[in-house]
Amino acid sequence: MIDISFPSTRMRRLRYNSCVRRLVRENFFSPDRFILPLFVRSGEQLRQPILSMPGQFQLSIDELAKEIEEAISLGLGGVILFGIPDQKDAIGSDAISDNGIIAQAIRAAKNIAKDKLLVISDVCFCEYTEHGHCGVLRETSCGRVDVDNDATLENLARQVIVHAKAGVDIVAPSGMIDGMVGRIRRSLDNEGFTHIPIMSYSAKYASAFYGPFREAAESAPKSGDRRSYQMDAAASAKQALREIQLDINEGADIIIIKPALAYLDIIKLAKEHFDGIPIAAYNVSGEYSMIKAAAEKGWINEKDAVNESLTAITRAGANIIITYWAKDIAKIM
Ligand code: PBG
Repeated sequence: MIDISFPSTRMRRLRYNSCVRRLVRENFFSPDRFILPLFVRSGEQLRQPILSMPGQFQLSIDELAKEIEEAISLGLGGVILFGIPDQKDAIGSDAISDNGIIAQAIRAAKNIAKDKLLVISDVCFCEYTEHGHCGVLRETSCGRVDVDNDATLENLARQVIVHAKAGVDIVAPSGMIDGMVGRIRRSLDNEGFTHIPIMSYSAKYASAFYGPFREAAESAPKSGDRRSYQMDAAASAKQALREIQLDINEGADIIIIKPALAYLDIIKLAKEHFDGIPIAAYNVSGEYSMIKAAAEKGWINEKDAVNESLTAITRAGANIIITYWAKDIAKIM
């Protein structure tokens, strides 16, 4: 009988050259599992750099078209669109207008993408409201102002119809509003959009790692924070399972966990717990900007760090990754 401990067993045998390492790998990703976030605003030939996210831009619709062409040629799975309106107001009217920026962006993107690339819309109000919160506000009993859950549901129900009419392939509600998936499903079904999947941000944490995004989307809350609707990092990890279960019960087709890197345990837990539902992870703006900044200083190798991060997210159990590096990774592959 062979002794199964050292020196008979040497783990390094399966690492001794790159061919062996390749042979025994299990965690891969491919471009068709990547979703690229894009920020759209009005204008022409506008490619406004986002200072906190080197390599990312606010795009006018004509420039968006070029990005869509490139995403198709790189074989990406999809794009997720965020609109930045010219006018913000208390309820985020631009998001529920057929002529609003997001409706225009979806129409333009879909016109090019056809069946070659998924056009996904972020369904939320924070980019469209003057106060920067993810729904309509109301004063609660003790004089505190908070997002009115049920009033916001009615606006979400209208927002998805605008997106659906514009031709969106998948809607991705991101507001952490209770009941949003069920209300959106009902709304889509009532209008004949039974085929449109809901990719819900089911477990979305109140996170410092969204900082650069809020500059990109001009969506930082003017006062307060999002802690009364987004999840608390210190809550039981099983609270995430409850959130996901509720979304599945309400009709979510794909779930998102966000951010990715500080919540790999949540991705793994969800993977173990739920069979047969695709899991997406959002590799968020702060995760992007940290590596970019360190790489600019020459402190870290960007390509290797990105590869390692996305491998970790894959290993934790995410089938789909929403990442600002989608194009770069596809180019390397
Ligand atoms: C909108 C939304 C946010 C992100 C995606 N959708 C911002 C937020 O909740 O404040 C963050 C994405 C990122 O940081 O890359 N609700």
